[in-house]
This record gives sequence, C-alpha cells and structure tokens, in this order.
Amino acid sequence: MEKRFSRESRCFKTSRIFPTDVNNHNTLFGGKLMSYIDDIASIAAHKHCRRSVVTASTDSVDFLYPIHTSDSVCLESFVTWTGKTSMEVFVKVVTEDLKTGARRIAATSFLTFVALDDNNKPAAVPIVVPETEEEIKLHESAPQRAEIRRIRREESRKLAGHFTMKYPWEI
Ligand SMILES: CC(C)(COP(=O)(O)OP(=O)(O)OC[C@H]1O[C@@H](n2cnc3c(N)ncnc32)[C@H](O)[C@@H]1OP(=O)(O)O)[C@@H](O)C(=O)NCCC(=O)NCCS
Repeated sequence: MEKRFSRESRCFKTSRIFPTDVNNHNTLFGGKLMSYIDDIASIAAHKHCRRSVVTASTDSVDFLYPIHTSDSVCLESFVTWTGKTSMEVFVKVVTEDLKTGARRIAATSFLTFVALDDNNKPAAVPIVVPETEEEIKLHESAPQRAEIRRIRREESRKLAGHFTMKYPWEI
C-alpha cells in the first residue's frame, strides 16, 4: 500500500480581513472563515491522494477567538489520518495582530474528504504517515474521532428518514 507523509499534503494561506468579510461585530464572518477552511482542507486532501475529492463532512469548527480587521489570518491544513477511501484533514487558524505581532490560535477544524475515481466512485487513498509531535498526536487521536463520525453518520441517516420533503403549503 502506498504511503505519504502528512507534510506532503501541508498547505498555508494568509489573508487580510477586508470590510466585505466582516459581520455586524466588525470581526471576520464565520461563514467566510468556514469557506476558507473547506477550500484549504480540500487542497490538502487532493495533494495527499492526487485524485478529485469531495467533502464528506465538516466534523467540527471551533471558533476560539474573534478575528479583527487589524489581524492577518493564516490557515494551515494537512491530512492527519486515512481510512480506505476517506481522509481526515486538520485545519489550524492562526491570527497575528499586525501592529503588535501577537499571535493566537483563533479556530481549529476537522473535516473528512473522500477520494473519487474517474467514475465518481470512492477510491482507495495512500496511508498517511505522521512525523512531527503535532501530526502524531492528531493521528493517534483520529480513530476515536472516526468512530464518533461513524455513529453520527448513522444517526443523520436515520433522522433524515423522519423529515418531510413536502412544500410548506402542503403540510
Ligand atoms: C461522500 C460520498 C462520496 C460517500 O459515498 P458513499 O457511497 O456513501 O460511500 P461509502 O459509504 O462507501 O463511504 C466511503 C467512505 O466515505 C466515508 N464517509 C461517507 N460519508 C461520510 C460522512 N458523512 N462523514 C465522514 N465520512 C464519511 C466512509 O466512512 C468511507 O470511508 P472509508 O472508505 O475510509 O472507510 C457521498 O456521500 C457523496 O458524494 N456525498 C456528497 C459530497 C458532496 O457533495 N460534498 C460537497 C461538495 S464537495
């Protein structure tokens, strides 16, 4: 089975916060950050398997601190764990106050991507090999997160069976 290091999928993206990116608190709009997260995570997954990928789930996004217009925002992503056709990607969001240089971790996120073959069917991915302390810690804790995802997926499917697809005026 082919193997790839976590570092081979690592990506970085640094942005300014523009007036069109903020919410009514004048801090970065959460939806904007989530879009950045999905974007950079999908690139890490694509680099790992060198196939097209789809987001199977955004497992968690934790907004730890607000991001201000005086901050730069840097996202880092890499593949932490692989199943047969799925890949877990971690995204770390680090802000830097551009005046003082103060840095903090403003958000973290885990997402799952699935590799697709030419017929858009799930395809096997290389096994990921962690090297750094951070990568190893995330890799070791991944099976527990995968189990939580499996349970949640089953529950989501069951729940979907209870929802109506009728138009509001038909209920
Ligand atoms: C994700 C998708 C390809 C999975 O297809 P599927 O026919 O359900 O495939 P399987 O049940 O064989 O699952 C394939 C893998 O995906 C994983 N998976 C599927 N749904 C998942 C979910 N909601 N969360 C996490 N992992 C999931 C499975 O655990 C499995 O992993 P493994 O091969 O590593 O064990 C399919 O559900 C899909 O196309 N969803 C829509 C994706 C999309 O449109 N994303 C947004 C735009 S990119």
